[in-house]
Amino acid sequence: MRTAAVLLLAACAGARADSSSAFLPDGGPLRNDSESALAIVRRHCGPCHHSDLPDHKPEAVAVFDTTRADWHLPMTPEQLKKAPGRLRASDLEQRLFGEWVKAELERREAR
Ligand code: HEC
Repeated sequence: MRTAAVLLLAACAGARADSSSAFLPDGGPLRNDSESALAIVRRHCGPCHHSDLPDHKPEAVAVFDTTRADWHLPMTPEQLKKAPGRLRASDLEQRLFGEWVKAELERREAR
């Protein structure tokens, strides 16, 4: 399972993100907020983490499911910290997603 994920992520790393990766599905600009973080994982973490796709992996959906607006809530802080390392996306997406993860971890600590 882990090997398959590594192989697929390695294959994705070769593909360059096009300019549409700077935008939300509704055309708005990508930011470092949770709506943008969801757009980024929906774009890059399928089909494994998309429970609405036939090729999803139950173990992956158990960690986070991109069909849920609150997709990141079931994740532990350790899992959140690992997430940017699994992302292979444009520099902009990498930066915004990293910023969102950092802020989300701070929000959790403040709770
Ligand atoms: C090829 C399928 C696949 C893709 C694509 C994929 N994942 Fe996963 N992911 C899995 C599976 C299966 C698991 C559960 C087993 C494991 O921990 O590796 C998992 C687990 C995880 C975990 C939990 C790791 C832990 O130690 O508990 C994180 C975090 C994660 N994925 C992040 C991501 C992110 C972020 C993306 C997109 C950038 C992504 N994954 C894309 C299959 C995938």
